[in-house]
Amino acid sequence: MKAIILAGGSGTRLYPVTIPTNKHFLPIYNKPMIYYPLSLVMLLGIRDVLFIVNPEDINDFKKLFKDGSHLGMNIQYQIQEKPNGLAEGLILAEDFIRNDNICYMLGDNVFFGHDLVKIMADAKNEIEENGGAYVFGYYVKDPERFGIVEFDEHGNVKSIEEKPEKPKSNYAVVGMYFYDNKAVEIAKKVKPSDRGELEITSVNEEYLKKGKLKVKLLGRGFAWFDAGTHDSFLEAGEFVATIEKKTGLMIGCIEEIAYNNGWITKEQLLNLAKPLKKTDYGRYLTELAKEL
Ligand code: TTP
Repeated sequence: MKAIILAGGSGTRLYPVTIPTNKHFLPIYNKPMIYYPLSLVMLLGIRDVLFIVNPEDINDFKKLFKDGSHLGMNIQYQIQEKPNGLAEGLILAEDFIRNDNICYMLGDNVFFGHDLVKIMADAKNEIEENGGAYVFGYYVKDPERFGIVEFDEHGNVKSIEEKPEKPKSNYAVVGMYFYDNKAVEIAKKVKPSDRGELEITSVNEEYLKKGKLKVKLLGRGFAWFDAGTHDSFLEAGEFVATIEKKTGLMIGCIEEIAYNNGWITKEQLLNLAKPLKKTDYGRYLTELAKEL
């Protein structure tokens, strides 16, 4: 399985902050927003990652992640000329995906939960063994803002709608999707919505029509932030700060994960820590190298 992380878009809900800069570089507490989805992909053991980026931001992304080899990864970049919608990323990533299955992540989503990685690994395995699509639902108070999934009395998915005026449930589809290879062809057939975007919900609807969409609800014990608004951005930062201070462990620390995965050596970890030596982040990495 390969991963695609969507890091383009216009970020208008964070204006004026995102007029001069891309939102994915903004700090959720002590690290760039984009580290969080990347860290989850890494925790799944996926080393091949493609970032979908705006033309004006590609050099900044390269500054941050280079070719990924310092993390023991293969990181590539694909320009999206305009924010034409989430499903366009699948089409743009065709050459990168080739015959693989896909872990598709939104660059501004932050997740935290005890069994999160296990749940993601189950989704990955399900797609690798049986194909189809696998998405996650999360209870929200403002369903008009999201892709919303409706269930029948047996818990089967009945419908999935993008930003409905009259939502049929309060379960939003979160920004973490698993697809088989057919998603690319499905995305190519998607027509722009009324707001002019190729909606990822249309891709999910197509899987639903074929009886190949699985939805798992993330219940109590999971925190999910779509950090693309001022309030959720702040909440996500406060949440990460609280958890990290209480547990003494970092959320979304990509260097730590690369090290724990055995993708980089102790020396490489210490080298990554060096430029960060004035920060708690750098000291955390240095301590880590001493521990094991
Ligand atoms: P959104 O938050 O839905 O859109 P946006 O980033 O353009 O922000 P706003 O609504 O405030 O103007 O996007 C979800 C994620 O997907 C986000 O990380 C940006 C990314 N994205 C793309 O990479 N390409 C796109 O065409 C769009 C619409 C979003």
